[in-house]
Amino acid sequence: MWNFPRVLAHRGGGTLAPENTLAALRCGNAHGFRAVEFDVMMIGDGTLVLMHDNELGRTVQGEGSLAGCTLGQLAAADAGSWFSEAFAGEPVPTFAQAADFCLRHGIAMNAEIKPVPGTEAATGQAVAAACTNLPPGSVLLSSFSVEALVAAREAAPGVPRGLLVGAVPDDWREQMRQAGALALHARAGLLTAGQAAAVKAAGFGLMVYTVNQPAEARALFAIGVDAVCTDRIDVIGADFR
Ligand code: G3P
Ligand code: MG
Repeated sequence: MWNFPRVLAHRGGGTLAPENTLAALRCGNAHGFRAVEFDVMMIGDGTLVLMHDNELGRTVQGEGSLAGCTLGQLAAADAGSWFSEAFAGEPVPTFAQAADFCLRHGIAMNAEIKPVPGTEAATGQAVAAACTNLPPGSVLLSSFSVEALVAAREAAPGVPRGLLVGAVPDDWREQMRQAGALALHARAGLLTAGQAAAVKAAGFGLMVYTVNQPAEARALFAIGVDAVCTDRIDVIGADFR
């Protein structure tokens, strides 16, 4: 049930480049990664961009919600200086730009639907619709929001979905059924061996984020985890076993 590579670069290039930028994707690609995770958010004018926080201030200077931003405003923003001066001027990419880069380089995408609160269904619908023209198998959607996943399912049933959770909830089967999810994406440190066995026995894919220690990655693979998402792309490489 897991057709993706076993190691994904978190937010594009992990902690080696500013998250959710084309520079991060170039970094992941340069390290040989054939799969990446990044966060996709819908801003005020309906454009889908790569962004983790729904408020400006941490990775992009400014104040206020991304719900109030237009692409014109974000196009002039600097998503690199917070990380280091070497990345000054790095723009906030659109999802379309990121997908184009990944397709050209043969990199599978885990596009995490990251809605501004209150836009769960609209964001899920928009991200899934944007994936309908991508080659089959090139993208796996995921979200912490079942509402977003349900909307994605309605918009594009054929684009695969994963349910993101922190600790695995007691009703994970019901949530996955609602979302039509093929995989569970669980948080490192919170997944038990028993839960991993139950997820695999039920026929689902199982990915764990964010795993930065090789010993932890090995232990997770040993209990049946299919893939890990890492910030330390320099330590847990694309061909890690
Ligand atoms: O998709 C895995 C992981 O990215 C979820 O957490 O906060 O890093 O987006 P976060
Ligand atoms: Mg994410």
